Amino acid sequence: MPEFQTSPGMRDVLPPESARWRRFVRTFDETVSAAGYGQVVPPLLEDIGVFHRVGEATDVVTKEMYDFVDKGERHVALRPEQTASVCRAFVQHRPATPWKVWYAGPNFRYEKPQRGRYRQFDQVGIEVLGPDDPLLDVEVIALGWRFFQRLGLQQVTLMVNSLGEPDDRARFVAALHAHFETNIERLTPESRVTLAKNPLRVLDSKRPEDATVIASAPRIADFLGETARRSFSAVCDGLRALDIPFVVNDRLVRGLDYYRLTTFEFVGGTLDSAQNALGGGGRYDGLVEDLGGPATPGVGFAIGLDRTLLACDDEKVFTADVERVDVFVVDTTGGLNALLLTDQLRENGIRADRAYENRSMKSQMKAADRSGAVVAVIIGPDEAESGTVVVRPLRDGGEQSSVSRSDLTNTLKRVLS
Ligand code: HAM
Repeated sequence: MPEFQTSPGMRDVLPPESARWRRFVRTFDETVSAAGYGQVVPPLLEDIGVFHRVGEATDVVTKEMYDFVDKGERHVALRPEQTASVCRAFVQHRPATPWKVWYAGPNFRYEKPQRGRYRQFDQVGIEVLGPDDPLLDVEVIALGWRFFQRLGLQQVTLMVNSLGEPDDRARFVAALHAHFETNIERLTPESRVTLAKNPLRVLDSKRPEDATVIASAPRIADFLGETARRSFSAVCDGLRALDIPFVVNDRLVRGLDYYRLTTFEFVGGTLDSAQNALGGGGRYDGLVEDLGGPATPGVGFAIGLDRTLLACDDEKVFTADVERVDVFVVDTTGGLNALLLTDQLRENGIRADRAYENRSMKSQMKAADRSGAVVAVIIGPDEAESGTVVVRPLRDGGEQSSVSRSDLTNTLKRVLS
């Protein structure tokens, strides 16, 4: 065992998996750029206060944060998510609204690592600041849905809920608290601890012993005021108009505190229930104000890249393909010709690789085969002398031919097309 290995919950991403990651982000970029979203790249590290606003009653903030005091005596944290950073950036730069942005990158949570749950994990996401319009919520949800479709995933269920306006939510939380207090002896010790901090999160318990008390708990739907009800039915109507299937789940409470009104989750059908949320989001109309900005509505989601790729593996879609070069240069004259030829080809947009250490012809041809290239370009002493190279097809048979060096790029472009 080597002395140094990745820390628990952290992973190296190697080829060809890393190419799939890039393709994942590119596919997301294409999906949301076409809808007018621009990329924002916030720093990995923020003043810890930025994240305290995400919810002082959530594990993400109280237990799982990677925080420390830096050399300038600032208390900072690695971001556990990016919505708070985006809102902080909005307050700092005051861009015109609607501000429609997307992001991609790593986040850090000190969680118990398991399949689909890591301490460093990547997300792609969007946020829109400004408009207070339930049809924007529908646009946001629809972009997430379309992205999963583009990946080819079939087993994704969209769950939606409304957590109401702050008053509705407060009345609901009070009723929940009363209900759980009355039945406290029937709750597991873990849920009793959760109850003291955040009654909403008790609804999230997956422990069978808690199920009966949770089943008889008050339902948010009965606490929604007129505004929340109207907004939620507009969201549901909009999703129906777009033919996006969804399930209303009034037990859906998200793991962060800033949500109000619309909340939603994309649930994967192949993953363990503790880690089956592929993505989620909702409205967070108070967050910008909490961070010192003007009252500004906001809505967005984040999709977990690591977890979604596991779902892709399970469904055998969006597979990791080895990236290949087009041409492999075999040079038995010492290597300088391979250096010149690969440089020339790459400058002309042809993906080219070569062998090193002046190996034998046989060994270089083996390397050419392994590389997956379509064509080998071979240069030996005779070719060097006459200013030619041999072009040899490696895959579909076909004759090899001698080509002058000045014609090489054009010949290869013809062969490769
Ligand atoms: P979240 O539900 O905490 O929401 O995370 C979104 C997604 O990130 C999850 O559904 C999951 O796929 C992935 N994820 C979270 N934690 C881990 C982990 N430890 N390991 C692997 N994947 C993980 C947010 O982060 C909000 N900022 C979403 C949002 C954006 N709400 C409004 N705008």
